Amino acid sequence: MDVAAQARIARRDRAEIERIREAGRVVAAVLSELGTAAVPGVSTAELDRLARARAEAMGARPAFLGYRGYPASLCVSVNDEVIHGIPSARRLLREGDLVGLDFGAVLAGWYADAAVTVAVGRASAEAERLVAVTRRALAQGIAAAWPGARVGDVGAAVEACAEGAGFSVVRDFVGHGVGRRLHEPPQVPNYGPPGTGPELGEGMVLAIEPMVNAGTAQVRVLADGWTAVTADGRSSAHFEHTVAVTAGGPEVLTAGAEGVSPVAG
Ligand code: MF3
Ligand code: CO
Repeated sequence: MDVAAQARIARRDRAEIERIREAGRVVAAVLSELGTAAVPGVSTAELDRLARARAEAMGARPAFLGYRGYPASLCVSVNDEVIHGIPSARRLLREGDLVGLDFGAVLAGWYADAAVTVAVGRASAEAERLVAVTRRALAQGIAAAWPGARVGDVGAAVEACAEGAGFSVVRDFVGHGVGRRLHEPPQVPNYGPPGTGPELGEGMVLAIEPMVNAGTAQVRVLADGWTAVTADGRSSAHFEHTVAVTAGGPEVLTAGAEGVSPVAG
């Protein structure tokens, strides 16, 4: 990890947290709409278009568009794609696909970031279990994000949940601080050990984002320079919330992102 990047973790006051929550409402509305739009025959480019239009209608801007050259507003990662799938007019969703939808919004200079994974129609029992476990792993990571805890406690909670269910946690990508920029310190790995890493304090805002694989944890990046896929071709799921660490415990600032997801938790 980059030591300099770990050096200073911003602390937001109550008003600033509420600004991030406003951006988070946009993200949640977009993901909720996309969850119902992800039906057989729709292209991933169409989902990207919907995401951008919905965010702009709410006065926000897509955070990913142009970020380090990323060419779209939304990441759509299907089946063995782990994260950073680039939307395409040629990629049509099919019954049974597992679709990761990752979206960030900037509203009045404040960023929020979240992701969900939904099944298109009916998915296999294993795919549905992978989704449920990844969602639960995120919930357990969030539940660990109290002042005085360490970043490694969050990761350890995620890891215990995912590995306890027989799945593996991706280590090549991590969560992050978020607020004035999409990616801020600290890095937030989805693994421990507990009691390690920076100490969490009141006002820190984290994007916690477990990526859980059915098989091996190993991933590789495709020739497009973005799309990360599992090395063994098996499925992957991804959930993410933007979370404020407060004296009263973790507050999810992107709540509602899962909308009426057909996949039960
Ligand atoms: N949620 C992802 C992240 O936080 C999405 C980034 S996609 C990018 O890293 F295009 F913006 F890089
Ligand atoms: Co993120």
